[in-house]
Amino acid sequence: SERTLVLVKPDGVRRGVVGEVISRIERKGLKLVALELRTLPRETAEAHYEEHASKPFFGELVDFITGGPLVAMVVEGPRAIEAFRALAGATDPVKATPGTVRGDFALEIGENIVHGSDSTDSAAREIKLFFPELG
Ligand code: GTP
Ligand code: MG
Repeated sequence: SERTLVLVKPDGVRRGVVGEVISRIERKGLKLVALELRTLPRETAEAHYEEHASKPFFGELVDFITGGPLVAMVVEGPRAIEAFRALAGATDPVKATPGTVRGDFALEIGENIVHGSDSTDSAAREIKLFFPELG
C-alpha cells in the first residue's frame, strides 16, 4: 500500500466540488488517512511547488494556491499515487478525458481543481510538508 498527497485547490473549494472529489476517491476504494481545510502560507506554497520555481507561471501559481482555503488530504491504497492521478486527469483540463475530475469540472490549466503527488519521492516530501505529524 502507498500514500499520496491530494489537494482540492482553492478553485475546487470555491466551485463546491470538495464532496464530489472525496466521493470519487472513496468510490475508487482509496482510503482517507488525513484531511484538513486550510489556507496555505506563501512559504508552504513555494516549498510545495519548488520544482516549478523557475517557470514563468510560478508567481501566478503561488498567488492562486494561497488565494483561498484548500482541502489537503492524505490518501492511501494500492498504487494510490497513480490511481489518484488517473482520477484527476491530464494537467490541461481541455485535454483531460471527460469522466476525470479535471475533464469534468475545469477549463483552464491554472485552475485545474486538484493536485496529486507524482512519484513516491514527491509524495513523501509533500506529506511531510502538509502533515508532519504523520511521520
Ligand atoms: P499538480 O498536481 O497541481 O502538480 O499538477 P500536475 O502534476 O498535473 O502538473 P505540474 O506539476 O506540471 O504543474 C503544476 C501546476 O502548475 C498545474 O496543476 C497547473 O495548475 C500549473 N501550471 C502548469 N502549467 C501551467 C501554465 O502553463 N500556466 C499556468 N498558469 N499554470 C500552469
Ligand atoms: Mg505536479
